[in-house]
Amino acid sequence: MYRTHSNGELNASNIGQEVTLSGWVQKIRDKGFLIWVDLRDRYGITQLIFDADRTPKEMMEAASELGREFVIQVTGTVIERESKNPNMITGDIEILATMVSILNKSLTPPFTIEDDTDGGEDLRMKYRYLDIRRNPVRENLIFRHKVTMAVRNYLSEKNFVEVETPYLIKSTPEGARDFVVPSRMNEGQFYALPQSPQTFKQLLMVGGMDKYFQIVKCFRDEDLRADRQPEFTQIDCEMAFIEQEDILNTFEGLTRHLLKKINGVEIEIFPRMTYDDALKKYGNDKPDIRFGMEFGELNEVAQHKDFGVFNNAELVVGIAVPGGNTFTRKEIDKLIDWIKRPQIGALGMVYARCNDDGTFKSSVDKFYDQADLASWAKVTGAQKGDLICVLSGEKNKVRGQLSALRMELAERLGLRKANEFAPLWVIDFPLLEWDKGTGRYHAMHHPFTSPKPGQLALLSTNPGKVRANAYDLVLNGNEIGGGSIRIHDKETQALMFDYLGFTPEEAKAQFGFLMDAFQYGAPPHGGLAFGLDRLVAILGGQETIRDYIAFPKNNSGRDVMIDAPAPIAAEQLTELSLQLNLKS
Ligand code: AMO
Repeated sequence: MYRTHSNGELNASNIGQEVTLSGWVQKIRDKGFLIWVDLRDRYGITQLIFDADRTPKEMMEAASELGREFVIQVTGTVIERESKNPNMITGDIEILATMVSILNKSLTPPFTIEDDTDGGEDLRMKYRYLDIRRNPVRENLIFRHKVTMAVRNYLSEKNFVEVETPYLIKSTPEGARDFVVPSRMNEGQFYALPQSPQTFKQLLMVGGMDKYFQIVKCFRDEDLRADRQPEFTQIDCEMAFIEQEDILNTFEGLTRHLLKKINGVEIEIFPRMTYDDALKKYGNDKPDIRFGMEFGELNEVAQHKDFGVFNNAELVVGIAVPGGNTFTRKEIDKLIDWIKRPQIGALGMVYARCNDDGTFKSSVDKFYDQADLASWAKVTGAQKGDLICVLSGEKNKVRGQLSALRMELAERLGLRKANEFAPLWVIDFPLLEWDKGTGRYHAMHHPFTSPKPGQLALLSTNPGKVRANAYDLVLNGNEIGGGSIRIHDKETQALMFDYLGFTPEEAKAQFGFLMDAFQYGAPPHGGLAFGLDRLVAILGGQETIRDYIAFPKNNSGRDVMIDAPAPIAAEQLTELSLQLNLKS
């Protein structure tokens, strides 16, 4: 038997007992005749003491040879500690060791296994198994497990059935590139790894499963960010015989349950906002509503003077930064430099200080008088002591820029509090989105999303105006889930493919199976998928999903620990009928 107890459970009530513990050596203090060792496992740390007066000589010698991260087994007696540590469960006791055996030695780890480690990101990723020994990483993985279990239990209780769908499939367009897998047995042909189980879950509805969910890996070959990984996990869900309202209520219920169970936060009703309103008020479709700084459109109160920059702009829009009048000129200049960076791309920023005496001082005093600036303050909701920041330009661009500024300022002002939760449904998404690259419309959510009732006719006259029964769930400014009511008849689906530029032959070749299925009594259905990694990270108070994934990829999509992707052997290529044609 390797252990009688874990390293996180012994306390004063165990004093006098003989115990055996196993684990890793966290720390050693060697005074020659007295050696203290901190022994660590998943459950905690227990202090061991080797005392020349009481521990057998050969065991003292063995203890003096221990090194950090050695795996050892120790037997001894639980005794009361002289200097107690009230911050540890095991802080009242220590183990007077009578036997120690080294189960495995360890090289000196390349970084310290401490909460605040000296290891940089790359090093920790290369030795992720050592990183996982650190409390914060281990706690994050356990936290993820808790969330996942809560999701499974909740959905199962609500009569959802978890069904696995295949990973070797045919490409499903979800907006990203596919990862493809060559087939040895079918020369020159490829599987695609699913970007999501979208078509399969719809087929499960045709199959009468009624309520489906799956905690499932999805694969998307897209540029990485803090909230994106090439392989990530969805809580994928689908329901039959439902309307949008049923879906929103069901998954609001799940999210409410998680917030309560995991974070102890009760939120009665999730607000809803249309996509158009979200863009108008916050400049993006996943607004963080934990704080105000709503957009005020200033065209009417800023385009009546001789200021050409504003007069020529499609949109003049501003926000009131709470307490922003304390910013120095230098700080404001820095902010202007920040929004002029290519990533944001603003051409400049106009600002107006709202003084405590009710007067204003703007960077465009030449053009605007106090009465003008008072109207700006009214529209943006600025109070005394605030700073009004105004951007202008092409509507879509300028909204994105001001949204970035709003988020940055909120971050700097400490308004994005990790322990505050503000969920929001964004509804009524456009069905189609204009793609400048290809010069045509493509499906904003995916091609299986149904237009709102009665809007089908608009498709031929004003496609950009058609709204869909599509919705996103936003939490603290992050899209944590998205879904839609689906098309469930062959004719509408064929029409949709047609609008998206598929020839009937292409549509049949790619999605014939789905349209065939729709001819055999497909029920009305719809669903949603949560991004589990994002959900877990946000519930955990963070936004970087990598910290909640056991073995994540780095920003170049590489697993630096196993060194993947990697070339394959020439024989393997031949077997797969593949030939490399590398540029360099
Ligand atoms: P969608 O593409 O919106 O919808 O994805 C659903 C959710 O998955 C998460 N997500 C990601 N998380 C981490 N890394 C990524 N690369 C990544 N991409 C997406 C987001 C997102 O909200 N089949 C549809 C769902 C449906 O219609 O039912 C779908 O996949 O949190």
